[in-house]
Amino acid sequence: MNKILDRTAKKYLLINGEKVETANYAPLYSPYSREQIADIAMADATLTKQAITAAYEAKDIIGEMPAYQRAQILEDVVKILTDRAEEAATIISTESAKPIVFAKAEVARTIETYKFSAEEAKRIQGETIPFDAASGGVGRIGYTIKEPIGVIGAITPFNFPLNLVAHKVGPAIAAGNSIVLKPASQTPLSALFIAEVFEEAGLPAGVLNVVTGPGGVVGEAMVEDDRVKMVTFTGSPRVGIGISNKAGLKKTTLELGSNSALIIDKDVEIDEIIDRCVMGAFSNQGQVCISLQRVYVHEDRYEEFVEKFATATKQLKMGDPLDSETYISSLITPGELERTLGWIEETKQSNATILTGGEAQDGILEPTIITDADSCLKVSCQEVFAPIVVVNKIASVEEAVNLVNDSQFGLQAGIYTNNVKHALYASKKLEVGGVMINDVPTYRVDQMPYGGLKDSGTGREGIKYAVEEMTELKLIVWNQG
Ligand code: SIN
Repeated sequence: MNKILDRTAKKYLLINGEKVETANYAPLYSPYSREQIADIAMADATLTKQAITAAYEAKDIIGEMPAYQRAQILEDVVKILTDRAEEAATIISTESAKPIVFAKAEVARTIETYKFSAEEAKRIQGETIPFDAASGGVGRIGYTIKEPIGVIGAITPFNFPLNLVAHKVGPAIAAGNSIVLKPASQTPLSALFIAEVFEEAGLPAGVLNVVTGPGGVVGEAMVEDDRVKMVTFTGSPRVGIGISNKAGLKKTTLELGSNSALIIDKDVEIDEIIDRCVMGAFSNQGQVCISLQRVYVHEDRYEEFVEKFATATKQLKMGDPLDSETYISSLITPGELERTLGWIEETKQSNATILTGGEAQDGILEPTIITDADSCLKVSCQEVFAPIVVVNKIASVEEAVNLVNDSQFGLQAGIYTNNVKHALYASKKLEVGGVMINDVPTYRVDQMPYGGLKDSGTGREGIKYAVEEMTELKLIVWNQG
């Protein structure tokens, strides 16, 4: 059995390449079976400081390592992860209840994320500045270089426990930084697994430190420590805004939530988009920041769309995440199930219609489609992070764009249309970080810039863009005398 999934194998913190025990351990349960799958080490502020010290002391080792060597370590991670892909998928699925087909897809994406990181390590470059363009610059030559920022605090979520760790660790190492990683409390095993992979790939001790424990304690210690020069966080807007308020002049990248929307124009072939809409709304039980939560369909195609969408949704198999037929499994915690059932209850008290789903079966929330939902209902205006989607009728693309923008969030949006003017209008007017023309807002590959406006956060991920955030621009000017 995989050591990480061996219930009897003690889990440790990883500090300066050493396995460190803690005074307290917390049981980790499978979100699906509710069986205990591990005992997780609970760090306190002192141990977190110890991890920061290790990262601080290792920052020059990685910062001065030549780019080709940093790239080589990342390439070796790619090789090892490719060999251990099955194991990685099983860990993801077991600790997060992500259906195994999606867990395998996440591992494949993670391999690409590290490949992009290895490539990016070799092209971190500045530019020459035309100093003589100013009269005061005559006789000077100058250029910029990009230097590592130092120690990065990374706080990662449960929904992509391997790939969203890769989006922080990959570019951090590519850029020559050291890291203290605090994985989500529900999904520490994928992080411990990848730390093991990095060790096998020869990453020097102290460059990647993994600290499991309560977010309030570990995260806060990272945000408050002056040696940590940047905090990169993916998670809820509430926590993200808290980090931002405390961070002061520390750099932050915040990838927060959304209630992402899709517009379906009247000239669209509905049969061709149903599978993408099902995937967008229900993959990973809707626990994706860019999950399809609101659909605005042109009134001419509305009836056809809802009928076909509901028919396809009713066929999704619910059950054990490790079963390759399963499409929908448990939400991350029983508390999340309770919350979402509460939001559905609010919907039932309104004029909205639950077209399909709306109940839990054996602890798993049915994929749920709601029509005619008022925009002030929680399922519409807040981030639902569950397999729930609301579908509403619109008379024009302009109306739909206004409805999409009527949100506190702005991460990604999609529009299906064959009308070039409508596509151009939507790409110009939608207030989001990314517009997907002829796809759902859930589309993401790992090299593209990814991030949002409004309460969806600040900064961009996608390796090249994350490297930008994780380096400091330095100017060198030579006076030729
Ligand atoms: C997220 O939930 O923010 C990540 C989505 C993805 O990587 O596909």
